[in-house]
Amino acid sequence: MTVSDDTLKELFNKALDAAKKSYSPYSRFPVGAALLMEDNSIYTGCNVENRSYGLTNCAERTAVFKAVSDGHTSIQAVAIAAPKADYPVGPCGACRQVLTEFSDGKAKVIFGNKIEKAVVKTLEELYPFDSLHELAN
Ligand code: THU
Repeated sequence: MTVSDDTLKELFNKALDAAKKSYSPYSRFPVGAALLMEDNSIYTGCNVENRSYGLTNCAERTAVFKAVSDGHTSIQAVAIAAPKADYPVGPCGACRQVLTEFSDGKAKVIFGNKIEKAVVKTLEELYPFDSLHELAN
């Protein structure tokens, strides 16, 4: 299904809102994510840090785990907002791997600090040869 630019913009606004809930006292770098799922439901997430830094969960994975644990396993589109960054922050490698588990790779990903400077890619552009969909063919 093709996701319109307006829908991507709305999704990005939800990611910006989700960033307000960020628990990031260590990095002071709030991130929000919003996922549009197969039934048009939207799941949001924020980064959740820990005093043991390596236990931090990124906003994207928080949103994925919320959606999957609610029974939604197919992502149509992803938005990531890092409002304090001075450049568009794309998902980290771990999150790319987790996101591709629940998408055929065609899902659009919009990321940025603000809508005017947001970048749009597909998941397969961000994570080609994901060793899941190649094997399935
Ligand atoms: N972070 C995310 O939540 N998502 C990203 O795509 C990049 C990084 C978080 C992890 C950590 O809490 C903070 O940003 C600084 O790296």
